[in-house]
Amino acid sequence: MRFIGLSGSFRAKSWNTMLLRNLVRWLPEGSEYLVFDRLDAVPFYAEELEAAIPEPAARLRAAVKEADGVFIASPEYNHSYTPVIKNAIDWCSRPVGQGVLLEKPVALLGAAPGLFGTVRAQSHLRQVLHATNSRVLARPEVFVNEAARRFDDAGQLVDPTSVALAQELVERLVDVAQRSRVSAVA
Ligand code: FNR
Repeated sequence: MRFIGLSGSFRAKSWNTMLLRNLVRWLPEGSEYLVFDRLDAVPFYAEELEAAIPEPAARLRAAVKEADGVFIASPEYNHSYTPVIKNAIDWCSRPVGQGVLLEKPVALLGAAPGLFGTVRAQSHLRQVLHATNSRVLARPEVFVNEAARRFDDAGQLVDPTSVALAQELVERLVDVAQRSRVSAVA
């Protein structure tokens, strides 16, 4: 199976990218997993660009299309998710009728140094992924707050509650992705 992770941060020491990298621990053996941690390389979407889709956007769209499931982890900036994630979603939603997020299994998670762990960012993301008609998991909700306490120095997620929730999220997305595959074949 193929999975991708979209990070809303392109900061070298991003908590959200770190969180996404941890998920490989719970994916089925033999899965492919690619984390996009430089979504700033994808040009801002404009309709006329669809005539010749720039390579980074085309690569993103192809990866999402081929993925059985997508994880999105975005920082919360000013009570919402970050612009690179919106731009990535916009690219993946077009051209009309060729959106690659349509009915795609998607799981949300996030990390922040503060108390709320991206609660508001994820809430906004759910609203936007309604427009793309994606299959967004309702549960578990994974808000890794006070991030500095949840990872060890090597970047491994070690906080037991966060580990349990992240593992459950991965297992549920894998389950939904497997069922989607079966229904696509049937
Ligand atoms: C933030 N941060 C932040 N945190 C939060 O919990 N709620 C918020 O609304 C905001 N707003 C905000 C705006 C801007 C412009 C910046 C730069 C930062 C703090 C943010 O959670 C923190 O910088 C994280 O470390 C960013 O995530 P990464 O880069 O570590 O993944």
